[in-house]
Amino acid sequence: MIIEYYGHASFVVELSGKRILFDPFFTGNPLNEGIEPSSIKCDLILLTHGHGDHVADAESIAKANNCKIISNYEVSNWFGAKGCEVHPVNHGGTVDLGYCKAKYVNAIHTSSMPDGSYGGNPGGFVVWGDGQCFYFAGDTALTMDMKLIPMTCPKVDVAILPIGDNFTMGYEDAAIAAQFVECDQVVGCHYDTFGYIKIDKDKARQAFEAKGKTLHLLDIGGSMTI
Ligand code: NI
Ligand code: MN
Repeated sequence: MIIEYYGHASFVVELSGKRILFDPFFTGNPLNEGIEPSSIKCDLILLTHGHGDHVADAESIAKANNCKIISNYEVSNWFGAKGCEVHPVNHGGTVDLGYCKAKYVNAIHTSSMPDGSYGGNPGGFVVWGDGQCFYFAGDTALTMDMKLIPMTCPKVDVAILPIGDNFTMGYEDAAIAAQFVECDQVVGCHYDTFGYIKIDKDKARQAFEAKGKTLHLLDIGGSMTI
């Protein structure tokens, strides 16, 4: 799979030849230097929760690409009312898209829409297809529920975890999360974007190394193949 990083928690993961966009936040991201949401090509959009730093550009990209949004029931309804094609899920549910399966799993966080309306409960996704599997945690604290992932999903090849602390777990808890999901390769997100979540990247890498894990910190606009 190919993992493309677009800053904060915005990623495109290419799996089974399809491009899956997560939590698009281009407009308003202070670290985004010139990547236009209109340049993003994708086949599917997955949204972990309703906060603006995760859904800012979902409507425009969904309409431009004529693609579906999958998120929790409340976030899905909010985008459905804007004319987007949506597929609502809730915790524990798996969607079979043919080319991959996506399971909506627990996260400990909050969720409200940019207009203040109710955004349901936040989650993360485990996605697998073509013999590979990844976990996109979304905004979350470390939670024992992560231990359910290796019990209920294929082996996770790579985990995309928040490491910025303050609004989510920090890198030390994220390294434990990598142990809970039994995954050695981690891509960090949700750090440095705002003052509250600025981190020491060397210390973050060391926290993972100490547990025999590798933390990958991609440049915005950069990618890795795994
Ligand atoms: Ni959030
Ligand atoms: Mn966030």
